[in-house]
Amino acid sequence: MTPVEKIKRNYERLPYPGADPRIVEGKGGSLPPLRWLQGLGRPGQPKPERVLVAGCGTGAEAFVIRRHLPKAEIVAVDFSPRSIAVAQRLQRAAKLARPITFAVADLTDPGLPAKLGDGFDLITCHGVLSYIPEPATALENFAAVLRPGGALYLGVNGESHPALRLRTWLAGFGLDVETLSEERRLREVLKIWDALHDDDLQGFASMSPSYLASDVCGSHFNNWPLTRWRALANGSGWELAGSWLLPLALRLLMAGEMHRSLFQTGLGELAERLDQARPAGFHKLLLRRPETPAPTSEKALRWTGIYSPRFLKPAADGRVTVVLHSSLFNLSQDWSLTSRQAKALRELVDAGVTPKGWLTQWGRSEAARRILWLWAGFGAVA
Ligand SMILES: C[S@@+](CC[C@H](N)C(=O)[O-])C[C@H]1O[C@@H](n2cnc3c(N)ncnc32)[C@H](O)[C@@H]1O
Repeated sequence: MTPVEKIKRNYERLPYPGADPRIVEGKGGSLPPLRWLQGLGRPGQPKPERVLVAGCGTGAEAFVIRRHLPKAEIVAVDFSPRSIAVAQRLQRAAKLARPITFAVADLTDPGLPAKLGDGFDLITCHGVLSYIPEPATALENFAAVLRPGGALYLGVNGESHPALRLRTWLAGFGLDVETLSEERRLREVLKIWDALHDDDLQGFASMSPSYLASDVCGSHFNNWPLTRWRALANGSGWELAGSWLLPLALRLLMAGEMHRSLFQTGLGELAERLDQARPAGFHKLLLRRPETPAPTSEKALRWTGIYSPRFLKPAADGRVTVVLHSSLFNLSQDWSLTSRQAKALRELVDAGVTPKGWLTQWGRSEAARRILWLWAGFGAVA
């Protein structure tokens, strides 16, 4: 049996995330908010009209998207016929007025673009590429079916995803982790693991059998640092437009005035630096196809509108307080800027994109780079 056949057999045995009819309500799932996906991928653009859910399992992700984009045409594919059959059954039982098209398809099949047609303006692929031995083929297929200006959301395992450590540890108890056998004993042992961990990816002992089969007992894992995922994406013609963790980490660092030595030329490099320092267990990434290749130093940054800045009246010493607020991240932050810096930031916010020549004009001074990073860290994308 090839590694791919083994992976497929696992999902055929235990379709993910399962057959619970509540998944049709689309309330659960760990997708980042659609507003973030749309804001980062397509600033100022209308809502996606044609969406591809790549590796949809039993449909949870597709149902979440449908709830947020009720008018969009949604096509959802998976290579497990049983998973697709469950998704279709759930959909029929829910009698959706505007159905999702579920279909069996392999993301690494070179014939995929011909099968799906093109013109997708949003592709979401959550928790799938980490289980595909050759994920570059899937990324190339996505590139072939995306509409110009569209975006790809990728949810993939990071270096600190616990699966591999967990497996070595479970093997020490004599458990055969590749088959999810002895499930009761496995759960007992996982309770010990859970008691010793209180990070984000915890609570294995009580997870559904299909999660355990995929995320603990699966036969293949790409648990990679961002550097590796980004290199893979670049090689297939994608560039990183945003990372869910980046604004949160930057906010923290900037609040502590620790951002100075982080000044870089691109968001991608910055996101990589932060992931190297604190490896993520799961990356939520937004990727775009570069429209026109531009030298890194002159790459335009766009405002996504995720943070709304309010410029207060200048104080007696001329300094201006800028209040940045994001209801999406539930964050608010004040920045005290010189009048020159405030002018530069306002220029960026009003233009919605770094004006041509802005980086050359301003980029040499440290103060201006700070503004640029304020702009980038608070929601602009490369
Ligand atoms: C962990 S599940 C995630 C399902 C869904 N994206 C979600 O978040 O609910 C991974 C899914 O990827 C599918 N998959 C794995 N390799 C695939 C491939 N080469 N082509 C299509 N689907 C694949 C599996 O069948 C499985 O349903």
